[in-house]
Amino acid sequence: MYAAALDSEFARAVRAGLTRTEQKTLPCRYLYDDVGSALFEAITFLPEYGLTRADARIIQANAGELIECLPDNLLVAELGSGTGAKTRAILEALHPCQDVVYYPIDVSAASLAKCKQELGSLGAVVPLETSYLEGMRQVAERRAPGKTLLVLFLGSTIGNFDPEAAIDFLYAIRLCLQEGDALLLGTDMVKPVDQLMAAYDDPAGVTAAFNLNLLARINRELAADFDLRQFEHVIRYNGDEQRIEMHLRSRQYQIVSIRRADLIVDFAPNETIRTEVCHKFRSEQVCRMARVAGFQMEAQWLDEEWAFAENLLVAR
Ligand code: AVJ
Repeated sequence: MYAAALDSEFARAVRAGLTRTEQKTLPCRYLYDDVGSALFEAITFLPEYGLTRADARIIQANAGELIECLPDNLLVAELGSGTGAKTRAILEALHPCQDVVYYPIDVSAASLAKCKQELGSLGAVVPLETSYLEGMRQVAERRAPGKTLLVLFLGSTIGNFDPEAAIDFLYAIRLCLQEGDALLLGTDMVKPVDQLMAAYDDPAGVTAAFNLNLLARINRELAADFDLRQFEHVIRYNGDEQRIEMHLRSRQYQIVSIRRADLIVDFAPNETIRTEVCHKFRSEQVCRMARVAGFQMEAQWLDEEWAFAENLLVAR
């Protein structure tokens, strides 16, 4: 029972993050269970959170130009596709002269089913329900000779990695690619701190619910007894690291039991769990990160309303 209790990857991650002696942490990918994914979708409609709309606007406005930068024998893969809503414009810009194959890669079966249903008329949609890198390996294995791969990594998810890990991740993607393949990378750019604070601490409390749901998920899946009312959503801007941090702050001294992680953990008053980091970028930093990971920046499109960039990187 002891070993079995820690068998799930989630249980091990929770245990590792909450037994750290300095800052307690939880990995942000676990924010996205069914409830968390629905709450994130709600966030994308908030007036304060312009990121997703900017991402979609840039793609909508520049899909034609993007396609012109690339050869006409494309395969498209998307890391964390969700339902692929932003990708429609790209597939439409290709259609009907090219017989494209689109590989959405995501951990949510529900999102992938919806994706296939909604985009299936634009080409062959081959969903891969797996992690980013495993999905990339599967796409690389299946690629027919003479095809060029366009990988989409939108939404500034790259900002959730620490800078070094971001480079390692892009390099791991690069290793799955051939020279001339492309990566369209979405990056949220530096902007005034008050704008960022409002985007991550909306007055309706949707982001707070998104954050707190992580504790509810631990209660549901790992038989824990977090009292959500004793934790508070907190957003910090870390200027040294150029990032927004999302935390959950303990309102009092408390002890929590997480049975399926075989863990009892205590929290001091005001102690926090860091649940997400969202790095913001400058243009030169994106260029450098791309270069170090084996890509070259071919084009960059910026939104006029919300500082966000779509970067077309080509494998060197
Ligand atoms: C999905 C990673 C782009 O960092 O802005 C939104 C997630 N967290 N509100 C981001 C998120 C809090 C989001 N990304």
